[in-house]
Amino acid sequence: MQSIANIQQAEAWNGPEGIHWAEQADRYDAMGAGINAPLFDAARIGERDRVLDVGCGTGCVTRLAARRAARGTVTGVDISAPMLARARTAAEAEGLTNVTFEQGDAQVHPFPAGDFDIAISRGGVMFFNDHVAAFTNIGRALRPGGRLVFAAPQPGGSAPEHTRAFAALTPLMRGPSPAARGMGSLTDPAGIRHILTEAGFVDVSIAPVEVPVVWGRDASDAVEFYFATGPVRHNLAEVPTATIERVRDEVRSALREFETPAGVSVRGAIWVVSATQP
Ligand SMILES: C[S@@+](CC[C@H](N)C(=O)[O-])C[C@H]1O[C@@H](n2cnc3c(N)ncnc32)[C@H](O)[C@@H]1O
Repeated sequence: MQSIANIQQAEAWNGPEGIHWAEQADRYDAMGAGINAPLFDAARIGERDRVLDVGCGTGCVTRLAARRAARGTVTGVDISAPMLARARTAAEAEGLTNVTFEQGDAQVHPFPAGDFDIAISRGGVMFFNDHVAAFTNIGRALRPGGRLVFAAPQPGGSAPEHTRAFAALTPLMRGPSPAARGMGSLTDPAGIRHILTEAGFVDVSIAPVEVPVVWGRDASDAVEFYFATGPVRHNLAEVPTATIERVRDEVRSALREFETPAGVSVRGAIWVVSATQP
């Protein structure tokens, strides 16, 4: 890796939280699967496109992009070594030959200038200490007329189903885990527009989209997974076991309402953001 501006994020995503994502990639990909259709609809990736996937993690979106850009190329960049290791293994297992992965901090990574037709991201562009610098750097990697399309979460509370499903846990969630710091940095549409404009992008569009988020096979499975994620573990570290057990039971009961044949599906709210490099 060349240089890192986001040292705290690098430590977090290379530590236990990043390792959990890498080990549980299928679970996290099931959670994120509802984002894929609106993201790719907005991205309109062409067969010969050169695609950059920013904050690619374990590479689910990178691999989907590689199938769309079948005669082009896809580069996934991420700050997390364990997640990239999983991404490389999965791409190889699928026999994809037009995919490469690079470890780097997208805010300062030395992308070749003008080398990409489009930059995409499923929730991988919120973790910068200087968003204008980061999006300027990503913009530099795009050719003139190249596009940026990413998905980022809306503010907490904007998805009523999610709020209802996890209400019992809310009083205990006092702050973000180390990896989740930055997660809420692109929730304000006016702020997103300002950052992208400052970074030199034009034609910024920000669409609110509701997506199904699948947390597990059934309520018991979903609650086990949710309580094992970094943000929840972080907030429960000092909480007495009896309280955790009570809250776990309450969340499990609440999640029964969301059990479907396709798993426990709770609606979440995201922004799908598009912008163009002039
Ligand atoms: C919420 S995960 C999303 C991963 C992936 N896009 C997906 O949809 O599964 C955020 C990702 O951003 C990466 N990340 C965080 N800060 C980064 C940075 N400054 N530069 C590059 N990647 C970063 C993390 O390592 C992690 O893989």
